[in-house]
Amino acid sequence: PDALARLVDGLMRTVPDFPGPGVQFRDITPLLADADAFAQVVAALADHVYGPVDLVAGMEARGFLLAAPVAVALGAGVVPVRKAGKLPGPVASRSYALEYGSAAVEVQPFTVADGARVLVIDDVLATGGTAAATVELLESCGATVVGLSFLVELQGLGGRALLPGRDVDALLTLP
Ligand code: PRP
Ligand code: HPA
Repeated sequence: PDALARLVDGLMRTVPDFPGPGVQFRDITPLLADADAFAQVVAALADHVYGPVDLVAGMEARGFLLAAPVAVALGAGVVPVRKAGKLPGPVASRSYALEYGSAAVEVQPFTVADGARVLVIDDVLATGGTAAATVELLESCGATVVGLSFLVELQGLGGRALLPGRDVDALLTLP
């Protein structure tokens, strides 16, 4: 792997059985707390070229921490994509299936100009449910999602299959 992938790999914790039994949780907080590594990762996310970007959308909660500095680096605005019930209305909402039950993501459509070119950022691409719902949500508001960038892609969970035809990049890909 390249230097950046090694950096992410070296600073990530893998926590067994969090938040529930059988889940191997990839915890990126040590990377965020390392000033040099955080700066390198933000620069790399901002350097990946998707063409002009008007807005960077970050998914609650760890996506916020990455989307904001990437937006500043790109001269773009930032849009929080939140779990249901957190944003004052009007909101646009998109629900998606979880292993048990469902969840929903929401955005304030008045922050997403018609035709805005949006980059979507999150820490981990796992099953892809959150990312796919986020793309549909933003595009239902009139945006064009130009690409999605993640720190880590958990390939075995197949998230990319839910993002067909999308430009998807990850700094580290794990089997
Ligand atoms: C995690 C992660 C992604 C999502 C990935 O967030 O930060 O947003 O799950 O999973 P998926 O590809 O299977 O949809 P989480 O739900 O833990 O929310 P949090 O950041 O608010 O704790
Ligand atoms: N880490 C962070 N977020 C996640 C993970 C993980 O391992 N799996 C699904 N969402």
